[in-house]
Amino acid sequence: MGLNYYQIKKNVLKARKLVIKGTTAAGSGHPGGSFSMAEILGCILYKFLKYDPKNPLWEDRDRLILSKGHASPGLFSNLAVAGFFEPSEIETLRKFGSILQGHPDFKCPGVEFCGGSLGLGLSYSIGNALAAKIDGKNHRIFTIIGDGESDEGQVWEAAMTASKFKVDNMTVIMDRNFIQQDSYTEKIMPLDEELIGDDLSEMWKDASRWKIGDKWRAFGWNVYEIDGHRIEQIDYAITKAIQAKGVPSIIIARTIKGKSVEHMEDNPQWHGKAPKPDIAPVIDVELDSQFMIAPSIIAGDMSNLEKEIKRCKEGRADYIHLDVMDGQFVPNSTFDHNKIKELRPLTVIPFDAHLMINEPVKHVRNYVDAGSDIISVHAEVCDESSFGEIHDILRQNQVGVGLAINPDTELPDWSKKFVADLDQLIVMSVVPGKSGQKYIETIHEKTQKLVTTLKENNFHGYVEADGGVNLENAGQCFLDGARVFVGGGAIIGQKDVRGVIRELRNTILRARRKLLIQKAHELGGADLVNNWIDLHVLGEKKTQLIQISKELGYN
Ligand code: DX5
Ligand code: ZN
Repeated sequence: MGLNYYQIKKNVLKARKLVIKGTTAAGSGHPGGSFSMAEILGCILYKFLKYDPKNPLWEDRDRLILSKGHASPGLFSNLAVAGFFEPSEIETLRKFGSILQGHPDFKCPGVEFCGGSLGLGLSYSIGNALAAKIDGKNHRIFTIIGDGESDEGQVWEAAMTASKFKVDNMTVIMDRNFIQQDSYTEKIMPLDEELIGDDLSEMWKDASRWKIGDKWRAFGWNVYEIDGHRIEQIDYAITKAIQAKGVPSIIIARTIKGKSVEHMEDNPQWHGKAPKPDIAPVIDVELDSQFMIAPSIIAGDMSNLEKEIKRCKEGRADYIHLDVMDGQFVPNSTFDHNKIKELRPLTVIPFDAHLMINEPVKHVRNYVDAGSDIISVHAEVCDESSFGEIHDILRQNQVGVGLAINPDTELPDWSKKFVADLDQLIVMSVVPGKSGQKYIETIHEKTQKLVTTLKENNFHGYVEADGGVNLENAGQCFLDGARVFVGGGAIIGQKDVRGVIRELRNTILRARRKLLIQKAHELGGADLVNNWIDLHVLGEKKTQLIQISKELGYN
């Protein structure tokens, strides 16, 4: 069974957009804390939680308890995406008489706890978990608590209680975003070690300085520390926590307040403030342009792929791109599903298997069983019927559905039927067969045209640029519409994988900033461009935005 990566990701995106829509319409609300827990909530709702949106009070449902109730826009948006009510309802957020109030309320289907007063959700969850045990019920309690609300003494009373009563039918996740109200948790009431220096916004990145887990361990809890924006890590930790018996479990998820919208990220100002209506459409484009880096390990030492996986992990790759070549579809051969199976236990990073093989329909099950999370097959060796079969196998197994096309292949007519449901389209920018070739320049234009066609056909997946992508052309590939960047020679072929991935991200980020400034200009001319730039108060973003805007001749 795959990770269900894309489905979770797509739903999280939909929910984030609704948060912006709702808070903008209301003119108030809490986007920051809604965004820090977005992936956590997405994983719980679209992977683990048992519920029936048509019967929200179904007795055997799992309970989702949001203790940090001010992040209600995030909860409501996800409940809408999960089908509890119409997404358009979000426009009534905080309006008199609406089911969607500033803090969760039982009027809203799917809400299990009114979390306005902070620090109470954990005790309430323990009560629910113990009640389930007494009643002999198997349902589970999933609870999200905030780091700021952990200042409350009741949280620690609850921590002792859960330990005493061995509450193991509850999974607690702490949204550790390091911000509470208008400042940083470590300034207001430190949960970690004393900080040296002033660069508080940098602190979350340094896991070695994290001591909050030790507090929970001291209270007798089983603790997991993860990156709370990585779906695969959340998935792994929740799976482990569910398996742990006789002990309460907490996942400390380090997150970024305002995650996905640059000007909100890590900025306490966005704890409880709504975007302005004229800015919201630009934010929407930003949300739509998240991107992923996928190193291709065949560019490394083929006799030691284990080492290459390790380098991808250290480099913090988003996916690991696995080029399977069978010596028939392409002259070379690399490895098959057996190798993927061997590599699978080494990491939880999603495996992005690119099958350059003949008759993929005959083999695709093996690649599912080997642990791939995304599988792309070539259009040149598929037709409507075989791709339909592949599509169904992948969907049933929660594996992402991908199609790949060679540089001289156009999107075949039969594939149009699948476009709306496709997770990934690989646009090859070299003739497939080996790493280290030069990017074929005409592919820029091809990708741009393709993206238009894809949009017309209701595509909601990601275009992956594969072949000869490097620091020089990645920005343009992004502007063409690519959102996943495979790098063989440019990443794995380099010594410092982590450094080059960071550089690649920065290059693409710059292109994204350009796209957003262009969007702001299109919507509101120089005024909106300046307003947009002025929102970026932290770090060096603003300087770069001003520079980009000058280059574009906007001011
Ligand atoms: C080519 C493969 C690519 C390639 C990437 O057949 O599909 O993934 O190896 O390597 P570079 O980035 O070096 O082209
Ligand atoms: Zn590839």
